Order: sequence, then C-alpha cells, then structure tokens
Amino acid sequence: MIGIFDSGYGGLTVFKEIKKLLPDYSYIYLGDNLRTPYGGRSQEAVYEFTKEAASFLFNKGCHLIIIACNTASSEALRKLQQEWLPSEYPDRKILGVIRPLAEVAVLESKYKKIGVVGTKATIESESYNKELKAQDNDLNIYTNACPLLVPLVEEGWLKNVATRMVIKKCLRPLKDRNIDTLILGCTHYPLLMKEFKAIAGKRVKVLDAPLIVAEKLADYLKKHSEIETQLEKNKTIHYYTTDSSDKFNKLGSKFLGEEISSEKVELK
Ligand code: DGL
Repeated sequence: MIGIFDSGYGGLTVFKEIKKLLPDYSYIYLGDNLRTPYGGRSQEAVYEFTKEAASFLFNKGCHLIIIACNTASSEALRKLQQEWLPSEYPDRKILGVIRPLAEVAVLESKYKKIGVVGTKATIESESYNKELKAQDNDLNIYTNACPLLVPLVEEGWLKNVATRMVIKKCLRPLKDRNIDTLILGCTHYPLLMKEFKAIAGKRVKVLDAPLIVAEKLADYLKKHSEIETQLEKNKTIHYYTTDSSDKFNKLGSKFLGEEISSEKVELK
C-alpha cells in the first residue's frame, strides 16, 4: 500500500492527482486534523507528529509513504529518512514534496529567479532554498510566507475578494524581484491556482504542484522495482483522520472533488 500523509485536508489536492495517474494501487490517506495546522508549529512538534503518522501508516502495511504536506516535508522528512527509518523500518521508504517541485522549478526557470510561497514553518525552514540551491547554486530564490491562506481556503473563500487581496500582498515582494517561476509550497494553494496565475501575471510560470508530485511518484515507482513490487494493487482507498470523521468527510470531499468515507484514529 501507498500511504499519503498530511496535516489535514490539504494533502487531498495531491492525492487527487496521484490516484488519477496511478489508479491501480491501494492507498491509505491519513490527515492529522486534530493537530492541524502544522504551519505555525515548531520543528520538534512537526517532527514528532509526522513520526507518529509514519508509524501508523507503516503498521497498516504501507511500504511507501508520501508526505504530501509541505510543512512536514520541510521540518521532518530529512530527519526521519536519516535517523529514524534506517533503524525502525529499514525496508520502507518515505518521500516528500520539496525535491520534486525544486527539480521541476529549476528546469522551468529561464532567468533563474524562483519564488516560493508556503506556511511560516516551510518558509522559515528554508527547505526549498536548500533543495533549489543543491540543484543549481546560481539561482536567485525569493520566498514569502502566506499563513492567512490556509484558513481562508478551509472557510471556502476561494473566489473571495479578501483572498485575492491576501494573494496580492503575498506575491508583491516576489513580483518586485521579477520572478519567472512560482512554487506553491503549501497543499492548500493549488485550490487557488487560477487566482495565483492571474495575480502572478503571464510572465510567471506557476507550477502545478499536485501534478508534479504525482508524476515524480510514477517515475520513482518505475525506477524502484524493489519497492513497487511490494505495493498492493487492489484499487482500495482508506481514509483516516485524527478528528471527527463527519467533518473530514464533508470538507475533505471538497478538496478531493468526490465523496469520502473516513474513519477516526488516534495517533501515539
Ligand atoms: N499541509 C500544510 C502544508 O502544505 C498546510 C496546512 C498546515 O499548516 O497544516 O504546508
């Protein structure tokens, strides 16, 4: 099975593309809705929560976990891969969303001016800066945190003038630097893709993060048969949330674009 983890609903934007591109696999989606949002939390907290989520998914039989959450990918992934996985689950894998997006951004950027927006924790961790610089040290990277967008999206204020104003304010410093490529480094922002594109302007390429993550996962599975062959292909999908399942079913279906039936779990 493939596990998809997010701090809450947002990862469903990524999962939507993954299951479209790779429909034959069996999946478990886990949203830590009880403790969301992660974006304003400390590195220590995000690391502990993500480790608990990964243990849950591995114990459910996942061989591969995709951390769809940018904040968890920024604050926990590397440490989990380097310090925890080798001793606890040496035959399993955890992947995140930062590297796939950085790789594509480098290819797309003509003038080496890349903008990144995300939660406070993601931006302050400089995870995108590090990954982008590792690909090409000559890049100019401009980042800005837009913490207000997560609650606005969860309120369903997608077409709202207040939301457009927040996006404008968030992109202003990046546009002033003439970025040519923009990474939406937060699971919620793809729901505002149209608005981001309109406000960023024609000269800025806004990357389709969920699609890129799905395509990179497909590539990964092609290259890693030792993992791919372990994955069940029964087309089953289970949704778990750490908060009310009714609430998850309602809002989650808006993120996913289809009905969801979830089960509540406790993480330890
Ligand atoms: N999933 C988070 C991310 O992509 C956004 C929501 C949160 O702050 O937990 O960074």
